[in-house]
Amino acid sequence: MNALSSTTPDLSHLRADFPILSETIRGKPFVFLDSAASAQKPAVVIDAMTHTMRHQYANVHRGLHWMSERTSDAYEGVRDKVAALLNAASREEIVFTGSSTGAINLVAYSYGALLRPDQAVLISEMEHHANIVPWQMLRDRRGIELRVAPVDERGELDLGAMEALLADGRVGLVSITHMSNVLGTVTPAARIAELAHAAGALLLLDGSQAAVHRPVDVKAIGADFYVFTGHKLYGPTGIGVLWARHALLEAMPPFMGGGDMIGSVSFERSTWAEVPHKFEAGTPPIVEVIGLGAAIDYVQAIGMGTIQAHEAGLTEHALARLGAVEGLRVIGEARTRGGVISFTVDGAHAHDIATLLDRNGIAVRAGTHCAEPLMRRFGITSTARASFGIYTTTQEIDVLADTLDRIRSFLV
Ligand code: ALA
Repeated sequence: MNALSSTTPDLSHLRADFPILSETIRGKPFVFLDSAASAQKPAVVIDAMTHTMRHQYANVHRGLHWMSERTSDAYEGVRDKVAALLNAASREEIVFTGSSTGAINLVAYSYGALLRPDQAVLISEMEHHANIVPWQMLRDRRGIELRVAPVDERGELDLGAMEALLADGRVGLVSITHMSNVLGTVTPAARIAELAHAAGALLLLDGSQAAVHRPVDVKAIGADFYVFTGHKLYGPTGIGVLWARHALLEAMPPFMGGGDMIGSVSFERSTWAEVPHKFEAGTPPIVEVIGLGAAIDYVQAIGMGTIQAHEAGLTEHALARLGAVEGLRVIGEARTRGGVISFTVDGAHAHDIATLLDRNGIAVRAGTHCAEPLMRRFGITSTARASFGIYTTTQEIDVLADTLDRIRSFLV
């Protein structure tokens, strides 16, 4: 069965770009349906990183020698690639961090220092822990209130409730996922930006999932901060991105102190480097940034619109196939969604499902997916989750659905 419509791009030729996909697991083909946790890496990313370490590596921004200058050029060139990916106004708006988590913590610490104690931060019920805990820490540090917008039964943000939570004008920052890592829900980012700005608040979008699955235009959305991570975008771990409007980065105090983020240092006082370097203390993840650059080149050559269309076709196919498995309940039915599907199976714990799927070479994630409050919202303790990437095929989804059918028949 292949439910892909004729308008869904066939990207199966890309599988050959990912060396790991030819591995077998216990003698079975490796069916990797856990890209939302971390995506696999194409050879161009692996090669860019090894080439850097073999042929073109030195510390950046520090050396006057040839090797340092070339490495600095390669590192700084990636800032331009990220700016183009997000349609940022300038390369100076791009800050390299260690992860999305690192980027959100940077904003919570640094922009959080500019909020008044009588202000609030508004998040939602479907946030990843990385977009909950830093704000709790800010609340505990500064007395700032933490408000939570509800999610409805479909798994969509309740925009009416969000508007009500913004109504008193005390929310200084709205920090919301652009795509849920559990429900697949894509949030109406431009509308949320309008609501936030009308109430005098800024908007941070956690794009850890969305930036992987669809084109992102921070100007068109009207966001103030956007974060994403390299390892879900077919790049390496250890590299994340914070985009923020230039004026905000100018106004924000540094997050971490150290080398490279300073103008000058004396024992009496130090001054800060220009944005974005003010936020990049210490030797940065040079090789990882270059790997991210290769990953961005790779996805841009495919086209984020093509990737979105491919995953929309896969998701439709998967919802149809999984929906036909007896006792399987998909959690979240958002009308706009990406390639992440969480589900429960009557009479079976998610961990058992994931373990049995693994025996068949199929990798899914099971548990709370770093979103415990969302699990409580849906009255469940865990789900199994299948998530798709550019290399996922309908045949793999069929293997998942057929295996779930078989597993279920001997579990219940
Ligand atoms: N945040 C990652 C996930 O959703 C790890 O699996």
